[in-house]
Amino acid sequence: MNAPVAAHEFGKVAVMYGGNSAERAVSLNSGSAVLAALQSRGVDAHAFDPSERPLAELKSEGFSRVFIALHGRGGEDGTLQGALTLMNLPFTGSGVLASALAMDKWRSKLVWQACGLPIPDYAVLTAETDFAAVAEQLGLPLFVKPAREGSSIGIVKVKTAAELPAAYQEAAQHDSLVLAERGMSGGEFTVAILGSDTDARALPSIRIVPTTEFYDYEAKYFRDDTRYLCPSGLSDAAEAQMRQLAVQGYQALGCRGWARIDFLLDNAGLPYLLEANTAPGMTSHSLAPMAARVDGLEFADLCLRILSMCEVG
Ligand SMILES: Nc1ncnc2c1ncn2[C@@H]1O[C@H](COP(=O)(O)OP(=O)(O)OP(=O)(O)O)[C@@H](O)[C@H]1O
Ligand SMILES: [Mg+2]
Repeated sequence: MNAPVAAHEFGKVAVMYGGNSAERAVSLNSGSAVLAALQSRGVDAHAFDPSERPLAELKSEGFSRVFIALHGRGGEDGTLQGALTLMNLPFTGSGVLASALAMDKWRSKLVWQACGLPIPDYAVLTAETDFAAVAEQLGLPLFVKPAREGSSIGIVKVKTAAELPAAYQEAAQHDSLVLAERGMSGGEFTVAILGSDTDARALPSIRIVPTTEFYDYEAKYFRDDTRYLCPSGLSDAAEAQMRQLAVQGYQALGCRGWARIDFLLDNAGLPYLLEANTAPGMTSHSLAPMAARVDGLEFADLCLRILSMCEVG
């Protein structure tokens, strides 16, 4: 665990949020919450929207580190991390490789599979795919999704084989790489992780219970009837197993600082890694802050902890 750092030791901090990904609106909420929290603790933090200003201003305006509160492409996918690395500016969260891997749900799965970690059965879809054969192979319902998107954007739940081509078309509007996954019906969980390398530690799991068909954009950000349970209600053994899988999945991708790993259970209650988010939502009612609070870490302390783990490159 890192020693506490006095606010002034962080220097001038850029909280990067906004951006121009499909998740801009979510990022505006995350970033303003992080900015207010850091300022409330005396950090010299300032908003920086990379869709409105050139990155070079980070240097010319004397910023000494960056809190990345951007979600999706151009902020969470390794590109920004590469630019900041070349500028020799420390930034929060994962570096280039882990960010890029986690953004790509197909390649995350390949890494996790190679490590023997459990993932739902899936297929890569193209316009030439035999859709009926995929429905046969994965069973119904199944989920079709763009490989490199977030906030459930472009995800379609497919209940009959006949719906699959249209679901593919929908997902393909968001990404040239499209996946189909077996629908898992045993419940949905997420585990936030703090720390790097051997210090990486999982926070308590959260169970997500949407009232909609699945945890879609509306259920994530607009509905007030989505239920979040933390503690999640898993048995001690199942909780320990999910936290261990989360840390293994995090380390396999090479994540650092912090991240959130999403899980689904099958009918038998067995856990499967769904995906990793290297710059998860950070509004005061987002999931990582919720787990941190249950673990005794208030939102502003979580922001400070993440900031204290900044690294270059
Ligand atoms: N294979 C599946 N079985 C059951 N539900 C699924 C499956 N895949 C996705 N879902 C549902 O869709 C939601 C979004 O899926 P996923 O986490 O893969 O996408 P995302 O857009 O990257 O989300 P995030 O906002 O966490 O970045 C899940 O939270 C879940 O409710
Ligand atoms: Mg998710």
